[in-house]
Amino acid sequence: MHEIDVKRHLADQDLATVAELLAQAADADAHPALGEHAWLDLVQGGRQGFAGLVAREPGHPHPVGYAQVSLGPHRGSPSSSWSIEVVVDPHHRTPGNTIGEDLLHAALALIRDEGGGHVHLWVNQPGPYHDRMAAAAGLSPGRVLYQMRRELPAEEKATIHTRPFRPGQDEERWLEVNNRAFQQHPEQGGWTVETMKLREAQPWFDPEGFLLHERDGRLAGFCWTKVHSTGDQALGEIYVVAVDPGFSNQGLGRQLTLAGLGYLANRGLSQAMLYVDATNVPAVKLYVGLGFTVNHIDRAYTGDVRP
Ligand SMILES: CC(C)(COP(=O)(O)OP(=O)(O)OC[C@H]1O[C@@H](n2cnc3c(N)ncnc32)[C@H](O)[C@@H]1OP(=O)(O)O)[C@@H](O)C(=O)NCCC(=O)NCCS
Repeated sequence: MHEIDVKRHLADQDLATVAELLAQAADADAHPALGEHAWLDLVQGGRQGFAGLVAREPGHPHPVGYAQVSLGPHRGSPSSSWSIEVVVDPHHRTPGNTIGEDLLHAALALIRDEGGGHVHLWVNQPGPYHDRMAAAAGLSPGRVLYQMRRELPAEEKATIHTRPFRPGQDEERWLEVNNRAFQQHPEQGGWTVETMKLREAQPWFDPEGFLLHERDGRLAGFCWTKVHSTGDQALGEIYVVAVDPGFSNQGLGRQLTLAGLGYLANRGLSQAMLYVDATNVPAVKLYVGLGFTVNHIDRAYTGDVRP
C-alpha cells in the first residue's frame, strides 16, 4: 500500500514536503515532531549515519510518514548508538494503518545493514500504541524525559547579575563549563565549537536570552532560553541551564533559572517550559521548587540490533 524511500540527503523539494508533514504533526500533537538534534540533522543533511525514510501512498502527492535515523556520538561505547524518530501524517493515523510500524521496521533493517548497535526510538507522549509498536520491534521502555511547565511571570525575581552571551567571544569558556556540567549527559555533553555554531545559526538564537553569570572573572553558570512562537501558543523554554561543578549547591541554579524566567516574562510570554531527564534528581528538584509541574513525558524505547 505504501512505499518507503531511503534518502541519505533530502533534496530541497523532499525537504519542503517532509517539513510540511512535520509541521502538521507538530500542530496535531502540540509538540515538535522531531527532537532538536534530529531536526538539525535533517536541515543540515548528509551527516554520517543520517537517513531519512519517506513513506508515500498512491493517490497522495505528499509523504504520509517519515522516519529519521541518526548515528549518535560513541562516547566510549563499544557499539554504535542510533536514534530513530517516526512521524505519521495525522490524517493517516487510522485503525489498522501500519505506516508507523513499517517505517520503524525499515529503519531497524537499515541499522542492521549498517553494522547494528544500540538503538533509541524517541516517542513524545507515548501511549499503548507506541508500547505495542516498540515491543513488536523488540524494543523495551527506557529513558524518560519530562516536559515541565509553569505560568509566567514568576513571583520571585533573580538577585544575581547576568549578562548576555557574546557570539564570537564566549564560545570557548561556555563550552568548558557546559561540558564539565554535562559530563554524564548523552546529548548535552561533549559539545564542540561546531555544535555551538550550529545553534547560533538557527533563527531562534537570541544572545539577549542567553544569560551568563560570572564570579571572580570566571563563568560560574548560565541559563540559555529559547522562544517558541510556532503553533497557537507561544512558549518560553529554559533551554539549557547549568552551574560549573565548582559552584554547585550554592543556590546558583535556582537564581539562574529565575533570571531566565524573568527574561521570558519580559518578552511578554505567559508560559515557561523545559525538558529534563526524569533521573536528573538535582534538576527536577530545582524545577519543582520553582513551581514547574510535569506536562507530559517523552520516552525512549531501546534495544540492540545485531549486524
Ligand atoms: C541542576 C543544577 C543547575 C542545579 O544547580 P545548583 O546551583 O547546584 O542548584 P541550587 O544550589 O540552586 O539548588 C536548587 C535545588 O536543587 C537541589 N539540589 C542541588 N543539587 C542537588 C543534588 N546533587 N541532589 C539533590 N538535590 C540537589 C537543592 O537542594 C535545591 O533544592 P531546595 O531549594 O529544595 O534546597 C546543577 O546541578 C547542574 O548544573 N547540573 C548539571 C547540568 C544539568 O543537569 N542541568 C539541568 C538540565 S535540564
